[in-house]
Amino acid sequence: MKKSFEFFLKISLFSFGIILNSCNDSTKDKENNKFNIHPIDCHSYSNIDHVRTIHLDLELDVDFKNKIIYGVARHTMKNKGFDTIIFDTKHLSIQKVTVGQKKEEKEIKFHLGPWDKDSILGQPLRIVTSPAYSKINIYYKTTKKSAALDWLEPNQTEGKIHPFLYTQGEPILTRTWIPLQDTPGNRFTYTAEVSVPDNLIAVMSAKKISNKNGKFKFRMNKEIPSYLIALAVGDLKYKKINEMCGVYAEKELIKTSTKEFEDLPKMIDAAEVLYGKYKWEQYDILVLPYAFPFGGMENPMLAFINPTVITGDKSLVSVIAHELAHSWSGNLVTNRTWNDFWLNEGVTVYIEHRIMEEIRGKGYSDMLSLIEFSELKNEVIELKKANRIYDTRLKLDLKGRDPDDCITQIAYVKGAYFFKTLEKLVGRKSLDEFLLNYFKDYSFKSISTEKFILYLKKNLLLPKHLDFNVEEWIYKENIPLNCIQINSTKFKKMKRLAKQFISGRNIFRKKGVFEKSKKTGQSKLVTKQIKRTDFSTQEWMEFIRSLPNDIDVSKLSLADKYMNFSTCGNAEIMMEWYLLCIKRNYKEVFPQIEKFLKKIGRRKYLSPIYKELIKSNKEWAKQIFNTNKENYHSISRSSIQKILN
Ligand code: BES
Ligand code: ZN
Repeated sequence: MKKSFEFFLKISLFSFGIILNSCNDSTKDKENNKFNIHPIDCHSYSNIDHVRTIHLDLELDVDFKNKIIYGVARHTMKNKGFDTIIFDTKHLSIQKVTVGQKKEEKEIKFHLGPWDKDSILGQPLRIVTSPAYSKINIYYKTTKKSAALDWLEPNQTEGKIHPFLYTQGEPILTRTWIPLQDTPGNRFTYTAEVSVPDNLIAVMSAKKISNKNGKFKFRMNKEIPSYLIALAVGDLKYKKINEMCGVYAEKELIKTSTKEFEDLPKMIDAAEVLYGKYKWEQYDILVLPYAFPFGGMENPMLAFINPTVITGDKSLVSVIAHELAHSWSGNLVTNRTWNDFWLNEGVTVYIEHRIMEEIRGKGYSDMLSLIEFSELKNEVIELKKANRIYDTRLKLDLKGRDPDDCITQIAYVKGAYFFKTLEKLVGRKSLDEFLLNYFKDYSFKSISTEKFILYLKKNLLLPKHLDFNVEEWIYKENIPLNCIQINSTKFKKMKRLAKQFISGRNIFRKKGVFEKSKKTGQSKLVTKQIKRTDFSTQEWMEFIRSLPNDIDVSKLSLADKYMNFSTCGNAEIMMEWYLLCIKRNYKEVFPQIEKFLKKIGRRKYLSPIYKELIKSNKEWAKQIFNTNKENYHSISRSSIQKILN
C-alpha cells in the first residue's frame, strides 16, 4: 500500500515537474539553439572547457518492480565564469533541476535539447545559472529505453530466485542512467547512496562505505571518467582471495570463480613490477549473469566479468589479465575521445600478454598473440568487404557514428602489435621504461593520439628509429609491412594434427604409446585415446581453425565423438566448433547451438554465430533471435539486429 502510494507520488511529481520546468518545445530550442557538439569529442554535447563536474554525489533508488532507477545527480562544478552548463542525457526523464546545497536548493529552469538526427548522442540538457553556483542537482528517473541498464528476471540468474541489475557505461551509455558530462575528456570523484530491496546487495566501481537496511553507501575518491561509473544489484556473496582482492558472485558460482581467479594476486604483482604501483586500492571481480555482453569490463575497483571465463581449468583467465591491465591503460590514462580508443585497448592487450607471459610463459602468450592476429587479419578482410577500409586505422573518425558500432579488432590487436613491433625495435627494457613513465606522467589524465605520438617521439624514439614510421601505423589503413611475426611450435603441431586428421588418420587415438604397467613396472606399447586436456584451449582453437571449410561431415562427427567439442562447456572452443558445423550444415549440433544462443549474451560469441547462421539458415537464426532477444543486453541485441537485417 505504502509503496504504491509512494510510486504514484513519484510519477505525479515527475509529470508535474516536466510540465512546469522543461522547455522542450522546438520554438524555444530554435531560440536558444546553442547545443554544439564538443569540438574535440564528437560524442558529447558537454561544455567541459567552460564548466565541468569535479565531483558527483548520486542518490539512487532501484525499483525492480517497475525497472526504474529514481535518481538525483548532485554535481559539484568547476566553472571558468560561464552561465551555461550542458550535460548529456539519453532516454532519461528529467524531473527538475535545482542549484545549491542539499536542502537549501532553489529550483531553476532547464532546457532539454532536440535529439541529434541519428539519435546516437541523445538530448543535451542545458541549464543557465550564475557561475557562482557550484552545486547543480538533477532529479530524474531512467526509462525502459535506458540502454545502460540490464534488468534481469530471476530465471536469467544462477539462483533463479532474485532479479539482477547491472549497468554498462562504456562507451556512451552512462548518459542513459545518469545525466552528466559524458565524455572521457573529463574526470571526477563520486559518491553514491543506493537503495535496493532488503534481500539484495549493491556493488559499485567504488569503495563500499556502509550498508544499512538495503541502503548502500559508496565512495570513489580517485578521479575517473564517466564511462567507469558502474552499479550492479543482486543476490551476491563475497569471497576474499587476499586482503586486496576478492570475488562477488551468486552463491552458486562463488567457489568455482574464486578458484578460477586465484592467480589474480600474481597478476597484480607482475603488472606492478612492470608499470608501477596499482593505484585503485582494491581489486575485486564481479561475476555477472550470462547475459553480460562483454568478456569483461574494467570498472575500477570492481571488474565486471562474464561467467564464460570460468572454465574450471583457468584457460581463459587472460580476460582477467586484460581487465586488470586497464587499471593502468584506460583507467589511469584514458583515451581523450572514442577516436583514440586504441590507446585504451591496444596498450591493454599488450600489457595483458605481458602479464600472461609472466605467469604462464612466453609460449602461452605467443599463442594468445597468434589467435588474435588471425582475428585481426579476418577483421581487415571484413572491413574491406564492407567498404570500411578507413576503419582499419588506429586513429578513428567516428563523427556521426555510434562508437559502439566501431569496436573492432583494429584497436585491440593492431594496437597491441604496434607495441610489440615497437618492443622489437627499441628493446623490451626501453619500452618498459617508457610505459612506466607514460603511466606516471599521465596518471588520472586523458590523452589524445596526437599527444601520445609527441610523447612517444620525445621519450622513446631515437633518430635511428625514423624508419619505423609511427604515422603509417596510426593513420594509415591495413597492417603495416614491418609488423612483427610471432611463431608458435605448439600451433605448428596443431596445424599438423589437423592435416593428418583431414587426410584420414584418427588422431584421437595414439598408437604405439609406451605405458608403464602399474603392476609390473614394465613399459609396453599400447593404443591410447587422447584427452581434451592433453592440449590447452588455445591449441584446440588452433586445431579447429586449421580444419578446412569443406571438411567432411563424418569427420566432424568423429571429432565430436572423441573430443565433445559441441558440449565441452568452454565457450571459446564451442564457438569455433559451431562456426565450422554451421558452415558444413552439420545439423546434429544445431540443438547445442540453440542452447548456446539461449544461454549466452556475450556479443563476441553471438555475432559470429549469427553471421554464419544467416548465410545458410536465415529463418532459423531469426527465430532463435526472436525467442531469445529479451535475454540479451541491448548492446548485443542491437548488434545482432543489425546482422539479421
Ligand atoms: N573495455 C572493454 C569492453 C568495452 C569496450 C565495452 C568498448 C564497451 C565498449 C573491455 O576491457 C574488453 O575489452 N573486453 C573484452 C575482453 C577481451 C579483449 C579479453 C571482451 O569483452 O571481449
Ligand atoms: Zn579492454
